[in-house]
Amino acid sequence: MEYLTFALAKGRLAEKAMELLSGIGISCDEMKENSRKLIFTNEEQKLKFFLAKASDVPTYVESGTADIGIVGKDTLLEEGRNICEVLDLKMGRCRFAVAGYRSIRDKLDNSMDLVVATKYPNIAKEYFYQKKHQTIEIVKLNGSVELAPIVGLSDVIVDIVETGSTLKANGLEVLEEICPVSARIVVNRVSMKLEHERIAHIIEGLRKATGDDK
Ligand code: PRP
Repeated sequence: MEYLTFALAKGRLAEKAMELLSGIGISCDEMKENSRKLIFTNEEQKLKFFLAKASDVPTYVESGTADIGIVGKDTLLEEGRNICEVLDLKMGRCRFAVAGYRSIRDKLDNSMDLVVATKYPNIAKEYFYQKKHQTIEIVKLNGSVELAPIVGLSDVIVDIVETGSTLKANGLEVLEEICPVSARIVVNRVSMKLEHERIAHIIEGLRKATGDDK
């Protein structure tokens, strides 16, 4: 039997995903030891697990170096890869929003030269160009995006909001909702055919475990 390979977005999501997988009999003892290792094997079940940076999970799955990926919808929307999204795990829930100071509201609706700071340039462009028919200037950042409107680098941000506490602590607020986000199972298109039975069995187990079996 060939190995079935999972690519997990490392961090909290990978931990939650492994908890969910252990509920359907998929586990990896080696992974429980806290280490800097990035690849783990369960020889008995012929499974491999990669811990990748979230934005790289779709790359591993599209290339077929991983059969199955667990990653947030935010990353899938931003990366736009040719992979099968098969299940919403209903965890890691948050939402995409436009946020900033309340005082920017008027400019937000009318301006054609709004400056938008974000870690997600494709999502920001899609939202402003396709949905709002506005042209914008994007400033690509890699984290702590809330800083940008405060220091005058941008008018607003496009970012994920979970509890809203980062915005609140920085005097910013949600100005427009874009879409909800949660963790998804994705599968490589070829693996879906070649390993259909094993993968279908896992997806079915997870579908039941997440209460999506109606
Ligand atoms: C994310 C996101 C927000 C924050 C939202 O950042 O970009 O900054 O979490 O969460 P909250 O609504 O619960 O406050 P992350 O913690 O991943 O760090 P980063 O900004 O450095 O990427």
